[in-house]
Amino acid sequence: MDLALTAASAPLRGSVAVPGDKSLAHRVALFAALAPGETEVGNYPDSGVTRAMRRALEVLGVPSSLSNGVLKLSGRKTLSPFQANGVVYCGNSATTFRLLAGALAATGTVATLDGSDGLRRRPMDRIAEPLRLMGADVSTTDGRAPLAFRHAPLHGIDYALPVASAQVLSCLQLAALGADGDSRFRVPGPVRDHTTRMLRAMGARIDEDGPVTLMHPLTSEDSLRPLRGTLPGDISSSAFLLVAAAIVPGSRITVENVGVNPTRTGILDVLAEMGAAVSVGNRRETFGEPVADITLEAAPLRGIDICGDMVVRSIDEFPAIAVAAAFADGTTVVRDAEELRYKESDRIAAIVAQLRALGAEVAETPDGFSVRGGTVRGGVARANGDHRLAMSMALCGLRAPAQVTVEGAEILDESFPGFVPSLDSLRQEAR
Ligand code: S3P
Repeated sequence: MDLALTAASAPLRGSVAVPGDKSLAHRVALFAALAPGETEVGNYPDSGVTRAMRRALEVLGVPSSLSNGVLKLSGRKTLSPFQANGVVYCGNSATTFRLLAGALAATGTVATLDGSDGLRRRPMDRIAEPLRLMGADVSTTDGRAPLAFRHAPLHGIDYALPVASAQVLSCLQLAALGADGDSRFRVPGPVRDHTTRMLRAMGARIDEDGPVTLMHPLTSEDSLRPLRGTLPGDISSSAFLLVAAAIVPGSRITVENVGVNPTRTGILDVLAEMGAAVSVGNRRETFGEPVADITLEAAPLRGIDICGDMVVRSIDEFPAIAVAAAFADGTTVVRDAEELRYKESDRIAAIVAQLRALGAEVAETPDGFSVRGGTVRGGVARANGDHRLAMSMALCGLRAPAQVTVEGAEILDESFPGFVPSLDSLRQEAR
């Protein structure tokens, strides 16, 4: 599918809600499968990646239903092995794959995890190696999917993660629930801590000391408690709408009911530092997660430097940030972001290639990129099988002097199927 947004002839205005957070949704479904009893959670997003987790769980003998945004799932005895009815296919979802790997190891399940061609290109040694240190019997295919698990007892470890990855930490945290002693994991950056918050809310014992997470295993008598509640909106989906408002002069929008966990709000700090007026109000809490309404008022944007901890706190938002940079005054430089090369695409190469295809002056470095603002002209960009790239490049069409067409834009259904209607609801021309 080709996607071409018409240029904005008027500011974006109004309030909008976005579907529930995908990171939380993956965890809700998987953790619920480990919690005997009925889980019922509202605002559950229905997109390619969340369907991947639900289908994988179904193959493992844990079906769920999703109706009117309410997920219902009956969990099983917490550490009992799953019975896999075939290969557990995770589609394009690395979060499904890596978190399930931890759960399979913890429960001693015999199963093979696999995924799409895109997922098969992503590094899995980063989970297989520490899982083996815990005693897991797991084999990879040259460090990538498919991964085959056989039953093996696990023991606690002390492990320093070489990369700041929430997926790796979460995988190991889940495995640690089934180990015969405590585990300590040290992370080199402020990764999203949804797993800790949610497992604690379900009754697991987890201590944190700065960058160290101390996991206490569950005993065979312990059970996780099922979840009930409503998911906050996804700040990563909100990011596209916030950037849209930031690049269209005179805009003022509110995204309601968004998860504002501080490990995820880098995008708000980046847009504020670039000059947009960002305010966060009506704060509340759900599942131990902070939730709020986010208002953004457009103002002239300026180029900034982005590096260090800010990179991890906005790791999924760089395609959108690159678009804000493309319409800012001056140059934006991103450093310390080599992890972007291991996402749905090599996001450093993809952002640079696609913005360049639209005429922008961009440069690639081993661990980042730079964008000179005001240089996008228009043309044809390609999504490269990456949902975030598709939506971000489409946003350029709101401000570019010539039309922007994104080829392969159907991939956005993987994460935010309502992207175009949500954006349209904020466009006054569309009314
Ligand atoms: C996620 C963690 C991040 C992020 C991904 C979702 C999660 O990946 O990019 O979209 O839900 O734990 P890494 O852990 O590989 O950085």
